[in-house]
Amino acid sequence: MTGLILYFSGTGNTKRVANEFKSCLLKKKVNVLMYSIEEHINLTNIGYDFLIIGFPKYYEYPIMCMLDYLKQNLQKYDKPIPTLAFCTQAGPLQTDFTGLEKLLKKKNHRLTVAISFPYANNMMIFRAFKPTEPAKLMENQENIRKQIEPLLNIFLKGEISKEHTKVWQRPFIYLVAAACTKLMPAFAMRFSADQSCTHCGLCAENCPMKNIKMVHGNPVFENHCLFCMRCINSCPSNSIRYNKRKCRQYKWKQTLQPIENKPSDVSEHKGK
Ligand SMILES: Cc1cc2nc3c(=O)[nH]c(=O)nc-3n(C[C@H](O)[C@H](O)[C@H](O)COP(=O)(O)O)c2cc1C
Repeated sequence: MTGLILYFSGTGNTKRVANEFKSCLLKKKVNVLMYSIEEHINLTNIGYDFLIIGFPKYYEYPIMCMLDYLKQNLQKYDKPIPTLAFCTQAGPLQTDFTGLEKLLKKKNHRLTVAISFPYANNMMIFRAFKPTEPAKLMENQENIRKQIEPLLNIFLKGEISKEHTKVWQRPFIYLVAAACTKLMPAFAMRFSADQSCTHCGLCAENCPMKNIKMVHGNPVFENHCLFCMRCINSCPSNSIRYNKRKCRQYKWKQTLQPIENKPSDVSEHKGK
């Protein structure tokens, strides 16, 4: 039996949880293939018996770039493929997975397990959004760790466990998320680098949208940004500003040990 894990992670939270799913499956002697959607893997060449999808929650909805990716790349299978979806998020609210479920159904993938994991806030460019307290982060991390094995047991047995939001809330949540996803990129022009920039180009190299161009050694921000916060966190000199204001970096690794101490996690803020 082979499972495919596909994920998107802006600043590493989702990747850490995806790694945890992977190692739990490996312990169960299940073959696992795991890719970030940024790797642009050709899914037509990959055979799998079940799918796990991981992504961060943006604007109280599954990040839309993941939905677009699945729409464009997921193959329609002859036999139904059991699918587990998880999102990582800052807050405690449940997630509306119904849009994702409909999309998966069109590709003959059956969403049987869907869950949100409150984890840590990586969105701190606006003053109203505060970083998650280290103790809370620790508690969230422990909760995630505890849930993964039971969830996989349910999933592999073919049982159903899906989180739900209230039906009347769904169109509203979707509209807000769609509007924010469409409007936010224009605000990316407010990003800039200050004079402490060392011109290393890491921000441009790591941007999942290739939204940053190095012009005469300086990063220039265009308008197709995801607002994933990776540029801020991958900058070695914390030189990136929003609206000319210093941005707080999301330094998860300085506060905690990773869920799983893997060598690949060392570069987590420096790429996929
Ligand atoms: C643009 C943006 C929007 C976000 N919106 C929400 C949200 O609506 N609700 C929430 O709980 N967390 C929200 N977050 C926080 C992220 O979902 C959370 O930090 C997530 O774990 C980040 O995952 P990553 O490190 O894999 O990118 C948002 C983060 C960003 C950058």
